[in-house]
Amino acid sequence: MKTLRVELGERGYPIYIGHGLLGCSDLYQPHIRGKQVMIVTNDTVAPLYLDQVRTALGAWQCEAVILPDGEQYKTLEVLSRIFDALLGKQFDRRVTLVALGGGVIGDMAGFAAACYQRGVDFIQIPTTLLSQVDSSVGGKTGVNHPLGKNMIGAFHQPRCVIADTATLDTLPGRELSAGLAEVIKYGLIRDPAFFSWLEANINRLLARDNDALAYAIERSCANKAEVVAADEREGGVRATLNLGHTFGHAIETGMGYGAWLHGEGVGCGMVMAARMSTRLGWLSDADATRAEALVKQARLPIRAPRALDTARFIELMGVDKKVQDGKIRLVLLKAIGESVVTDDFPPGLLREVIEECKET
Ligand code: NAD
Ligand code: GLY
Repeated sequence: MKTLRVELGERGYPIYIGHGLLGCSDLYQPHIRGKQVMIVTNDTVAPLYLDQVRTALGAWQCEAVILPDGEQYKTLEVLSRIFDALLGKQFDRRVTLVALGGGVIGDMAGFAAACYQRGVDFIQIPTTLLSQVDSSVGGKTGVNHPLGKNMIGAFHQPRCVIADTATLDTLPGRELSAGLAEVIKYGLIRDPAFFSWLEANINRLLARDNDALAYAIERSCANKAEVVAADEREGGVRATLNLGHTFGHAIETGMGYGAWLHGEGVGCGMVMAARMSTRLGWLSDADATRAEALVKQARLPIRAPRALDTARFIELMGVDKKVQDGKIRLVLLKAIGESVVTDDFPPGLLREVIEECKET
């Protein structure tokens, strides 16, 4: 097992990465302060892993709430089922919520923990590659609104993250690829050596080689932990973790939540951001080609849906937490491993790039 740490003073916490960690009671023990635990999971993950986690938490009064599976259920209405369960069991302020699932469950359970009785502890047990490399770390929690993705939420750090690589054995291939989008992101924004490693090892990752996956998770979490420690509430550098996301969120919202996976939107969005960077003269054609090739090799879409009208696309890009004074800000690239956040681009160029990047 590898242990990393998110250095945030008294809110700091460990990230445990290893094979077969779910059932290790000792890992949970130091991070649960009270006697009550509520596991939050969904109807896909529960049959696979709930029993193992329940058994490991046998020493506590342990209950579970099982939500419907899907991005379309990441809503305030469905969130309230967690509060119903907590209040139904009369759980108090010392309860610990345990998020068992992918990023949707992690974001919802974390937000419930931020709100319940004005804030209780929670633990992240991410079971998708995407959640193991990104969403479980850093304390962003929340739900979607019909008008915009992740628009309702809070910063609330977990007490620990337990990333069990054995859970990836049951993950569908499309979801594995979605996770690889966020892995590639770290290489593009700040870690060129990792990007080169990914180019050399992408087939091992797609074949689920455990050593390769564990290394990719560790390196991704190390990058994320450093950025979050430097800028917990996204006043500056943390925004670079959103490479491709402004394009991707527009696709996700525009196509209807769940039609495109989050990681698919990010993969395509990174290709669009690279193209925009090239058109601005900031990124070489060779680097943009490398970025696009790796996204494609990871079996992610590299073309935006033609069904999404360009004017609507830009309107949706304007519903983004990076928008300032009505101006869209984008994460763009100066090189592989060097990113900037900027609103310094002609609006007409954005329109052209979206058009150019659409599927034929
Ligand atoms: P997800 O949570 O929808 O999980 C993907 C699918 O895999 C679901 O059907 C899920 O039930 C299933 N699943 C989960 N674990 C499994 C397993 N081990 N075996 C088989 N099936 C399994 O999607 P995701 O890609 O994990 O997360 C995407 C979400 O994360 C989005 O809502 C996105 O906005 C959010 N996100 C948040 C942050 C953050 O910093 N908070 C960062 C990135 C993404
Ligand atoms: N996934 C972006 C962030 O955590 O800031």
